[in-house]
Amino acid sequence: MSNKIKVAFFDAKDYDIASFDKANRSGDLKIKYFETKLDEDTVKLAKGYDVVCVFVNDTVNEKVINSLAKKGVKLIALRCAGFNNVDVAHAAGKIGVVRVPAYSPYAVAEHAAALLLTSIRRIHKSYIRTKDFNFSLNGLMGFDLHGKTVGVVGTGKIGRVFIDICRGFGMNVIAYDKFPAKDADYDYVDLKEIWKKSDIISFHCPLTEETYHMVDAASIKNMKKGVVLVNTSRGALIDAEALLEGIRKRHIGAACLDVYEEEASVFFEDRSGHIFEDDTLARLISMPNVIVTSHQAFLTEEALTNIANTTINNINEFLKKGSCVNEVKA
Ligand code: NAI
Repeated sequence: MSNKIKVAFFDAKDYDIASFDKANRSGDLKIKYFETKLDEDTVKLAKGYDVVCVFVNDTVNEKVINSLAKKGVKLIALRCAGFNNVDVAHAAGKIGVVRVPAYSPYAVAEHAAALLLTSIRRIHKSYIRTKDFNFSLNGLMGFDLHGKTVGVVGTGKIGRVFIDICRGFGMNVIAYDKFPAKDADYDYVDLKEIWKKSDIISFHCPLTEETYHMVDAASIKNMKKGVVLVNTSRGALIDAEALLEGIRKRHIGAACLDVYEEEASVFFEDRSGHIFEDDTLARLISMPNVIVTSHQAFLTEEALTNIANTTINNINEFLKKGSCVNEVKA
């Protein structure tokens, strides 16, 4: 019998398999890749494994945790930074939880900037036009970022890189964070000021009970007319129905969304050729001033290499010592 650590890897995509096989080339771990997500129905697949490796849209609730613990699974290894999909409090004392706190803040911040530029310079429209040899400029008017005010919500690793990028464009930066950085060289203001003063608002804080639907009908009302919202954090920071209404009323100028509150069943999958069930997302996608990418911000070579290496180190460290620097505690 091999005493290799056995890992059940859920929601595996080709790019995950390539980066994890490379990071595990010594063969220390025995990894079984499952295409399916982890949830109450698929948890049975974890039988006989020491570790489950999961991503942002796997369901790791009370029931799943109880079932994993019963099967003798010792560790939930998140291969992402956010852990809002894991009931960490319930896992305490039953099963360990580790994550990858940082893998490339540049990947996410640069994607936020890419979405913003694409949106305000109408690149998504002109790309399609020139592919069809339509060289007309009508309807492609943008605006300069230089001199505009950007409100950054959450000034952790990603938020700070995004602030640096914005400064490169000559933008005025204001920021809000529940725990402001002491060494900040930008101004912190309260959320009301962010809503009131920002031409662009970019979200880089975690999803918690407090930040859930921080963008709703009431906060949208307090925002500048024409504001551009950029969300590369977690979908449920924004009430999607309220966003849609804000766009319909022409109050919101544009939305750049890498995340969506009901993304779990659609993002990362090819749904072309299917009848699309989510009317809100369909309507948002149909808007000329909305750009949706499907939770793609992390997807760079550098980030995937760091994710695979850190996850494998986390697993080895936790199973050897019973604790890990990257442990998530309630
Ligand atoms: P971080 O932990 O370095 O920074 C988060 C910041 O948010 C901290 O400064 C914290 O004080 C602040 N914060 C906490 N509660 C807050 C509140 N109630 N209001 C305002 N600010 C609050 O995290 P990092 O690495 O910068 O990541 C930020 C978020 O980006 C993650 O929580 C995750 O949800 C998301 N993310 C998205 C990815 C994607 O592919 N789209 C990839 C990686 C992360």
